[in-house]
Amino acid sequence: MDYLEISNRRYTGSKKALLNDIYESIAPYCKQGSIFADLFAGTGIVSHFMLKKGMNVITNDILRSNYIAHQAWFGHGNFDIKKLEVLISEFNLIHSDDLSDNYFSDIYGGKYFSISDAKKIGYIRERIANIRLTEHERYILLASLMYAADKIANTVGHFEHFLSTPPIKKGVFLKLPLTEDFAGKAVVYNMDTNKLAPNITCDVAYIDPPYNARQYINFYHVLENLVRWNKPTEFEGISMKFKRNELKSDYSRSKAPTVFKDLIDNLRAKLIVVSYNNTYSARSSASNNKISENQLMNILSSKGSVKIKEIDHKFFNSGKTSFKNHKEFLYICKPIT
Ligand SMILES: C[S@@+](CC[C@H](N)C(=O)[O-])C[C@H]1O[C@@H](n2cnc3c(N)ncnc32)[C@H](O)[C@@H]1O
Repeated sequence: MDYLEISNRRYTGSKKALLNDIYESIAPYCKQGSIFADLFAGTGIVSHFMLKKGMNVITNDILRSNYIAHQAWFGHGNFDIKKLEVLISEFNLIHSDDLSDNYFSDIYGGKYFSISDAKKIGYIRERIANIRLTEHERYILLASLMYAADKIANTVGHFEHFLSTPPIKKGVFLKLPLTEDFAGKAVVYNMDTNKLAPNITCDVAYIDPPYNARQYINFYHVLENLVRWNKPTEFEGISMKFKRNELKSDYSRSKAPTVFKDLIDNLRAKLIVVSYNNTYSARSSASNNKISENQLMNILSSKGSVKIKEIDHKFFNSGKTSFKNHKEFLYICKPIT
């Protein structure tokens, strides 16, 4: 059996390349069993790294698709590995050309996927909804399907648009996530971080929000619709985005500085680490940061002493925006207690 790793997913703003830098900045303040709260967790790769380092984690993301992946990678539910292996092998043997059209292929076929691949994704999703599974088994299969769909999508790496060239049949193949037993525990949430923050305490709060107008739900609407599977019928535009107002982030709106301040004020953490990148002067207005370096510094300084660590980092952009001298920063704030 071929296994899936948490890093086998394309995700805008993933901190895959910065894990050691993040860890080095918090290590002096942590010990085995410290609580690391990854409050805009995305793929969950930062939490995964901290679990491997022996910490406990709290993860949160507003998107259900990310929550399902977090549950699959480090949730604590029961699952039967043999049963999952059999199901995945069975799914992989399905011939997509024998399948009828379905919800997923009607909406996304010929756009983000070939009709044939979309039929297979939709068919497997329906099977996952109807087979007898534990909750955790369902999380694992959904994460596996989501990763398989991402891998063959006719996109630049996210679903804001599909490519103008028609999708070709690539084949849908699922892999079993390589889950591990960590010493630490994970508690997984799926809500607006500003609502969660007043209800948790942690040793380190890691803050990696979006900083520009590009809404993550617009990047990942296809995967979100696939895992939610409540089959909405109204869509916007040619890119087929379902109605998703409640999933849009205030961090991508002009009120970002206000919500960021509210979050920092409410955090009960011994250390706050904020990822920040300087796309502020990018040419495309959608890429301009909603929170300036000055605003960030002022907000954090009102909470405690702040140090800045600068990291060189080549990162993803969709090609339309030129980011010269891109730098990634970690703002490390030691709150005054
Ligand atoms: C820059 S990405 C995080 C990437 C992550 N550190 C990783 O390495 O994969 C920002 C994340 O914040 C989430 N997000 C945006 N606004 C949010 C909010 N108000 N509450 C919770 N999550 C939010 C997005 O869905 C997105 O996954």
